[in-house]
Amino acid sequence: MSIHINAKKGDFAKVVLMPGDPLRAKWIAETFLTKVKAVSSVRGMVGYTGYSKGGKRISVMPSGMGQPSIGIYSHELFAEYGVELIIRVGTCGGFHKDLNVKDIVIASSASSDFDYLADFNLHGIYSATPDYEVLETAVNEARKSKAKFKVGNVLSEGIFYHLNKDEKEPWWKRWMKVGALGCEMESYVLYCNANVLGKKALGMFTVSDHFTKPKIMSSEERQKGLSDMIKIAIKVAEKFA
Ligand code: HPA
Repeated sequence: MSIHINAKKGDFAKVVLMPGDPLRAKWIAETFLTKVKAVSSVRGMVGYTGYSKGGKRISVMPSGMGQPSIGIYSHELFAEYGVELIIRVGTCGGFHKDLNVKDIVIASSASSDFDYLADFNLHGIYSATPDYEVLETAVNEARKSKAKFKVGNVLSEGIFYHLNKDEKEPWWKRWMKVGALGCEMESYVLYCNANVLGKKALGMFTVSDHFTKPKIMSSEERQKGLSDMIKIAIKVAEKFA
């Protein structure tokens, strides 16, 4: 047992899919895996381990929302449960003009407005990157699927409700100008944990809303839209399981 996870050693597979939402974790486990067992239940954040269609042992564990939350769960999985790869499967807000709601973004890097590695006194800004082999595998699997996808930098923001409405130029426009494809709230810290602990990580997201295109996905559409991405993530997970 670790502080926030009450599974036994060995209950988690080497590869974990990590959505933010605990109900989405349940849906992923029940829809895409067989012989599923619940392995942890602290705070209602239920983790599951099962087998993919290809017979590979894979786990699903929710991260909760935001960088501190994914920081805790991914750290405990990497450091205390022998997990080697975490694939975040979430949603993001789109910035890039070529992205539309339901498209997939694969984060080849993550930026942040929250300095998770401040403790290291780096005298610079850390670039958080995924494992290259996992990224390459995901891009190849995305190409094979019919899904529309883009690969690039995302902003992992620390604030969802930005309070300052008086800025001359909204915060997101400035991130858009420097080429961020979109924003979410977890990948930067996930990548930092993986890199510092010598593990592997990747983040991929379905675009759930777009900052310059008004359509917002309903929660039902959001669930369906996630399917294409989860299928890609499972293919990647199978290769590293
Ligand atoms: N901000 C942060 N995370 C998100 C957003 C957003 O606008 N949309 C989906 N995830």
